[in-house]
Amino acid sequence: MEGDYDVIVLGTGLTECILSGLLSIDGKKVLHIDKQDYYGGESASLNLTQLYSKFKPSKPYSDQFGKDRDWCVDLIPKFLMSNGELTNILVHTDVTRYMEFKQISGSYVYRGGRIAKVPSNQTEAISSPLMGFFEKRRMKNFLEFIIKYKEDEVSTHGGVDLDKITMDELYNKYGLERGTKDFIGHAMALWSNDDYLSQPARETYDRIVLYLGSVARYGKSPYIYPLYGLGELPQGFARLSAIYGGTFMLDTPIEEVLYEDGKFAGVKTKEGVAKAPVVIADPTYFPEKVKSTGQKVIRAMCILDHPIPNTSDADSAQIIIPQNQVGRKNDIYIATVSSAHNICAKGYYLAIISTIIETDKPHLELEPAFKVIGATKDVLMGIAELYEPIEDGSKDHIYISKSYDPSSHFESTTDDVKDIYKRVTGHDLVLKKRATVEEEAELAGLS
Ligand SMILES: *[C@@H]1O[C@H](CO)[C@@H](O)[C@H](O)[C@H]1NC(C)=O
Ligand SMILES: *[C@@H]1O[C@H](CO)[C@@H](O)[C@H](O)[C@H]1NC(C)=O
Repeated sequence: MEGDYDVIVLGTGLTECILSGLLSIDGKKVLHIDKQDYYGGESASLNLTQLYSKFKPSKPYSDQFGKDRDWCVDLIPKFLMSNGELTNILVHTDVTRYMEFKQISGSYVYRGGRIAKVPSNQTEAISSPLMGFFEKRRMKNFLEFIIKYKEDEVSTHGGVDLDKITMDELYNKYGLERGTKDFIGHAMALWSNDDYLSQPARETYDRIVLYLGSVARYGKSPYIYPLYGLGELPQGFARLSAIYGGTFMLDTPIEEVLYEDGKFAGVKTKEGVAKAPVVIADPTYFPEKVKSTGQKVIRAMCILDHPIPNTSDADSAQIIIPQNQVGRKNDIYIATVSSAHNICAKGYYLAIISTIIETDKPHLELEPAFKVIGATKDVLMGIAELYEPIEDGSKDHIYISKSYDPSSHFESTTDDVKDIYKRVTGHDLVLKKRATVEEEAELAGLS
């Protein structure tokens, strides 16, 4: 590893691995180091031995849920939107070659104490149990407006300017009830709080279009998920980087960070000194250069031996509990996957519940979600503080990623990737426009 590089990357979380891959494709000489002996950092998928030793150190895993190696439990539960930016990056970089994806079978939302499928077109709106008779018609009209809207055809704008009207005003124009606003804003536009209501409707419109377009792509839900868990993602990008000449070293703690004139210059490890003018790192490598966002996330990993009730026995699903529905300020997310995605032993299901903590009894905040998922065989809980860099890296050439938020998808992660990419290279990340049909088939795992 000794020698000169263009970029040193510390930590093999998803953000770091995507950047490593993208910069390697650009022809940069990348050295990628992780202090841990496995890929993925905070965004790894762990087997049960690793999981129990992390979250229940006093109670080592003893094969009660089948073979340890059949399990890949995500530390950061998220799904990919099939039309989302991470999917674009995967297709653009050909990382789809190293992985197989499968659809998530359902997208559900909690309203009035029960869960129901999120309607994704006018026909589904009309038959949805989420709304009463008249509200269904209003929802149908709203969806029709969204689907028919074309930027360059004023006649489709219904007299509104999406950059001026607030989202709440747009909802009110269609006469939608509060509970309907909740599921559109939180389960389709995927906002985690209600700040968006008073902002221009444009971004929420874009998010609903992303949701509907993602459902339309493969059918059952807007989400896709890699076989063997999310830990496959950083590894896929690491392989990409390696193909373009990137050097990887796991299990290599950093002994010293070297500076010249206050700027990053390299690192010293047990393998020697490596030099580079730029470093990209996750927050754990530079604790003195990050600050808490003031938010903490609680995640509960629940082992089940049954599908989630009221999901038509779905082998996988995203369930969103909008904050208003349970008197909170932040949504509660439930991501459930099973052996259909090769992440656990046959007959088992994994449900991961997450939310931003609002009280000093965080486990009680998850109560509504525990009611939804039904009986559990075991529950492992962890709390993580969220960090972000204090500076943008322009002064010391140290570019630090943000912690993974509790949102149900990767759109904020790819925003961070694009933002760091631009700060490091000085230009925007430009992705190839369209995938070939073959690549698409490969991505869907449907070929
Ligand atoms: C599940 O369905 C049953 C029967 O319709 C209903 O009583 C219950 O409230 C539902 N639970 C959830 C969480 O949707
Ligand atoms: C609406 O969605 C359902 C279920 O995914 C599908 O069967 C139906 O064809 C869709 N209808 C329209 C008008 O797109």
